[in-house]
Amino acid sequence: MGSLTRRQVLLGGTALAAAGLIPAIPRTPLTPSMKLMQSALAADIARPDYMVRLSANENPYGPARVALKAINATMHLANRYSGDPRPLMKLLADINGVTSENIVVGTGSSEILNVSGLLASLNSGSSVVCADPTYQDLLRYAEANGAEIIRVPVNESLSPDLDAMRAAVRTDTSMVYLVNPNNPIPSVLEKDQMREFVLEMSKDRLVFVDEAYHEYVDSPDYQSMIPLIAEGHNNIIVSRTASKIHGLAGMRVGFGYSHPDLASRMRRLKTGGTNVLAIEAAFASYSDSEFPNFAIRKNKESRAIVEKMCEELGLRYIKSNANFTFIETGMENKYVQEKMREYGILTGRDFPPYHTSWTRVSMSKPEEMEYFVQVYKQLFA
Ligand SMILES: Cc1ncc(COP(=O)(O)O)c(C=O)c1O
Repeated sequence: MGSLTRRQVLLGGTALAAAGLIPAIPRTPLTPSMKLMQSALAADIARPDYMVRLSANENPYGPARVALKAINATMHLANRYSGDPRPLMKLLADINGVTSENIVVGTGSSEILNVSGLLASLNSGSSVVCADPTYQDLLRYAEANGAEIIRVPVNESLSPDLDAMRAAVRTDTSMVYLVNPNNPIPSVLEKDQMREFVLEMSKDRLVFVDEAYHEYVDSPDYQSMIPLIAEGHNNIIVSRTASKIHGLAGMRVGFGYSHPDLASRMRRLKTGGTNVLAIEAAFASYSDSEFPNFAIRKNKESRAIVEKMCEELGLRYIKSNANFTFIETGMENKYVQEKMREYGILTGRDFPPYHTSWTRVSMSKPEEMEYFVQVYKQLFA
């Protein structure tokens, strides 16, 4: 590195490529012109000395201070098997208007998704209907256990197409899986249509509604499906997670809400006990609204920064109801990823079939999103 100029260090790979020190990316119709590359080189961008993670829909501020305190206070119990999830279950039951019997605590909501994927594939020859694209954990697990996955493309506004999903259901369909807001496309389903669809579909099969991003939603069109569980409907599972708004992704704690009979079936399929630190951290975090409210406010600020950039540059994007957005850059996602990485920014992976022109960008702190916008404009505007 001794012979590199400060500019080359600041600009990372772009400058290195331009200096002929690493191979240039092969030119494609989507490669920005040399002139644009040069304009990217024209100004030094103050690059953070860490990777800015806009790739995994995490909460950049978490965990909450109260959660950290709870973790510290519980460390000495790490020699004991599992914790007691009952106070946490009671707290969540009170918050959501259900009872503790309705709740399964999982190692992240991923465990709830996996257990449900297993449930959906217990009978041989079963199928799961889902929107495409959507979150893959439950589907992967169901497929690995023998279920066929019936993927129904999203509609023109890139929302799950409920009519087409209804039409895709077969007699062997054991589950319909919906993510609301969806991921990677953060649209929300209209509440009345959603309720009607869930009630209709759950008459003869399980319906799983993944609400990982519930707390970020500000659309009046949206409604959680947990009230259906409170009403006693018995074929519905709703998942939530402490990973997102509560910033506890690394602690691995999430929840399934369902009829008590279904909840006890799911508990029997769980593969592990709950982590003592995670339970205490979640209990503290869910007991206090200050941190989630702060995270929601900051997430809105960040979304506004990125949406403003899209408006300015005339880029199509999906109005986000989550902590990420989906942007039609018009470029191969891998190319965007690669260029952003040169500036210390990690963006979302490929989401076929949208990987040829769309990129998912997770929200981080507003100042990091300002940096993202600066880099994006330098590189591609
Ligand atoms: C829609 C959706 N569901 C579930 C999860 C998994 O979350 P957890 O950390 O609770 O396992 C994610 C993670 O990104 C997600 O996007």
